[in-house]
Amino acid sequence: MIELRDVTKTFDGKARVTAVAGVTLTIPDGDMVAVMGPSGSGKSTLLNLMGGLDVPSSGSITVAGRDLAKESEKGRSLFRRSHVSYVFQAYHLMPTLTASQNVALPLHLAGRPRREVEAKTAEVLDEVGLAARAGHLPDELSGGERQRVAIARALVTGAPLLLADEPTGNLDSARGQEILDLLRSIHRERGTTVVMVTHDPRAASVCERRIELRDGRVEADHAVSGARP
Ligand SMILES: Nc1ncnc2c1ncn2[C@@H]1O[C@H](COP(=O)(O)OP(=O)(O)OP(=O)(O)O)[C@@H](O)[C@H]1O
Ligand SMILES: [Mg+2]
Repeated sequence: MIELRDVTKTFDGKARVTAVAGVTLTIPDGDMVAVMGPSGSGKSTLLNLMGGLDVPSSGSITVAGRDLAKESEKGRSLFRRSHVSYVFQAYHLMPTLTASQNVALPLHLAGRPRREVEAKTAEVLDEVGLAARAGHLPDELSGGERQRVAIARALVTGAPLLLADEPTGNLDSARGQEILDLLRSIHRERGTTVVMVTHDPRAASVCERRIELRDGRVEADHAVSGARP
């Protein structure tokens, strides 16, 4: 469960920006949620806070029973490794590593034995339909394939929480739909909690709930009728 209590995040640059302004919400385990809202409304900031990539200026964020605002940098880093996987809009793949090496990276970093790394990597590449592209470098893959590699890399650790920041943002509508279908099947088959930032109205059709932000506040929060999670 993710629980935010009156969470605020301000950035102190030349001008002070309140990116998240008093958000209180609960996301139960196993939900699939879309976070929507105009550019600059605080969506990415909120996602980063939920994933322990950043800390709130005030308020509390409890994920899987841990108050992230009270954890040390090291504590949050360990938390991220075991609990959270992240899919970015721009894929963030290592350009010099093949698809399969990119997917294997989180397991290597976690010090898993080589046989386990190889087996798990092959399994998730197969799951995202890329077994035949395992040896390709990122620039030998299409945008949709790169995003599937990024999703495979997010899946490989088996983290219970998947955070995705505009996972279909760079894709045409057919490739975008494939990514949404893939996220939906991960959610359904693994019971992974998925929180997805998106501008894509089709995302509503795969999420059970839609949270709309404006100026760092929750403007609307409703169940999506007719969703097909
Ligand atoms: N590191 C930072 N330093 C200063 N201001 C920041 C920082 N990160 C975000 N902001 C500001 O906080 C506000 C919210 O940013 P955020 O990236 O969360 O928006 P967003 O809803 O994800 O927008 P987009 O749809 O364009 O990605 C913006 O006004 C942004 O300029
Ligand atoms: Mg953003």
